[in-house]
Amino acid sequence: MSEKVYPVSPEVAAQAHIDNAKYEAMYEQSINDPDTFWGEEGKRLDWFKPYTKVKNTTFDPHNVDIRWFEDGTLNASYNCLDRHLETRGDQVAIIWEGDDPSESENITYRDLYERVCRFSNALKSQGVEKGDVVTLYMPMIPEAAIAMLACTRIGAVHSIVFGGFSPEALAARIEGASSKVVVTSNYSLRGGKVVPLKANVDKALEHPAAAAHVESVIVVKRVDQDVAWNEKVDVWYEGLVAAASAECAPEEMEAEAPMFILYTSGSTGAPKGLKHTTGGYMVYAAMTHEYAFDYKEGDIYWCTADVGWVTGHSYIVYGPLANGGTSLMFEGVPNYPDNSRFGRVIEKHKVNQLYTAPTAIRSLMQQGEDVLGDSDLSSLRILGSVGEPINPEAWNWYHRIVGQGRCPIVDTWWQTETGGMMILPLPGATALKPGSATRPFFGVQPALLDADGNELEGAVDGNLVLKDSWPGQSRSIWGDHERFIQTYFSTYKGVYTTGDGARRDEDGYYWITGRVDDVINVSGHRMGTAEVESALVAHPAVAEAAVVGYPHELKGQGIYVYVTLQSGYEQSDELMKELRLHVRKEIGPIASPDLIQFSPGMPKTRSGKIMRRILRKIAEDDFDALGDTSTLSDPTVVDDLIENRMNRK
Ligand code: WTA
Repeated sequence: MSEKVYPVSPEVAAQAHIDNAKYEAMYEQSINDPDTFWGEEGKRLDWFKPYTKVKNTTFDPHNVDIRWFEDGTLNASYNCLDRHLETRGDQVAIIWEGDDPSESENITYRDLYERVCRFSNALKSQGVEKGDVVTLYMPMIPEAAIAMLACTRIGAVHSIVFGGFSPEALAARIEGASSKVVVTSNYSLRGGKVVPLKANVDKALEHPAAAAHVESVIVVKRVDQDVAWNEKVDVWYEGLVAAASAECAPEEMEAEAPMFILYTSGSTGAPKGLKHTTGGYMVYAAMTHEYAFDYKEGDIYWCTADVGWVTGHSYIVYGPLANGGTSLMFEGVPNYPDNSRFGRVIEKHKVNQLYTAPTAIRSLMQQGEDVLGDSDLSSLRILGSVGEPINPEAWNWYHRIVGQGRCPIVDTWWQTETGGMMILPLPGATALKPGSATRPFFGVQPALLDADGNELEGAVDGNLVLKDSWPGQSRSIWGDHERFIQTYFSTYKGVYTTGDGARRDEDGYYWITGRVDDVINVSGHRMGTAEVESALVAHPAVAEAAVVGYPHELKGQGIYVYVTLQSGYEQSDELMKELRLHVRKEIGPIASPDLIQFSPGMPKTRSGKIMRRILRKIAEDDFDALGDTSTLSDPTVVDDLIENRMNRK
């Protein structure tokens, strides 16, 4: 824990939306009188039919039911586009910065509106109707945002699959959502390299269960190269929009109508499709974006996430555009054409707020203090961090080198499930402590529980739960409400269980300590260890596999794999290589094991359960903390494991 405290700068507080007195008053009202508080905040959106009810939620495990603004109607796309046309038609909505620094584009609200309307009509021409699911497998190009806004415009539900996922993972998600249409691009460009996205879709659709409902695959031509073509389903994006009208009336949606599905990893089973609904999500995304970044009219805001993750949903597209902001969308990577790219982009577009991940900060930090070259960073006002705990060294570097000692850092803790930021400092209100996400946002009631579910008071470590609902919360798991209840509302009764551990200090600040379940966080990407294990055991050479996280300098956590081979297979470097490739093929490059250790036996209890605690400690080289191993069915396994750790690669 870091001891240093950075007080709020008086200049920042003076012009901020929210200072400390206001934070405290608003927080209190948000908890004591949520109906009045959120009833007011909900007015930041335009509603077709105004709501009369605000909060109607229960975390009762027999009947988890979450509704916000339930009798109101609205449209997300309308709130991001149409309502800005009169006053901000010529203002830039999206600055697109291509992989190649010579490629960029400013898209005004009016342009974006027309392009979204055209694609909305194009989707309709492909048979997409209100309530249908459209899967997006896209690079970071304007068409990704356009496709999202077109879906929500016509009441279709989008399900975005990150472009780094494999055809297998994509197939499972297309199938899980019974998707009718897939939108992709022929290739994507990252760091100067061409990636065959469309070919991955083709491979995914070789699975009959995935192909079952797909009527068309709409392909954006990102790169001028040929691609395999299936006349029956494939159709060019460019042809469709050229033929479509530039006007498309937005569907009137109920507040609780599904808006999007987003798959994420948990500790057990296949990834789950979290369902987010329209009204509460939009209110929450817009409000958190405004307050966290102290966003003001005319600011240029840059979130470096990918739209395939929740951060891209809430803080590249929906939050900033609902606020009539200018959102920078970046196709490339931090080290192309060289390591100064982030600095060059900030300078080129005069970025005021930068929102990025600790893993990106650590990789810049490794390049030295002059990594951003002579880029002019004076436009920056506020910096954000998201995705994993930020270690104080990275925090201090970010503050000193990128923020030039001048910009507050908002370390924002939240999850795919929460829809928006939950624990974070507000720039004009909260003194900062490097490494702490600080205090809860409005309406958020964190608590720390012991293993038996008792609430702990004061400065203490515990399981982080949330005691009541907030509007941005996911409402269910697509098609499986029972699993939603099981996963989030059954470990401890009457609260939402986050799966994270946290410490609260004497000032009531929260320090997220990481996952308490079998989920690991690799470069800010959530990974279920069970998912990686089931990919591994699908390989004929593998009898048993156990996956744990271990501290990794750049990635935060790395993927450590223990493998027991089937008899008849020999350990070898080739087999290690093959297993790595196999996981990449099953899940995607982000799941590629960092270290593999062949282990003839696993540490198991007498009832046959693998003791991961021991595997974790060995992976961390923390042999003195193995704890009691006497309950193992064969305690000598541990000695073998320690000995063999020298051979891991
Ligand atoms: C972790 C990303 C510490 C946490 C928005 C959470 C963080 C998981 C932070 C959610 C942070 C995210 N400090 N840990 N500021 N932000 N996490 O669903 O473990 O991809 O449960 O959402 O990331 O990851 P997800």
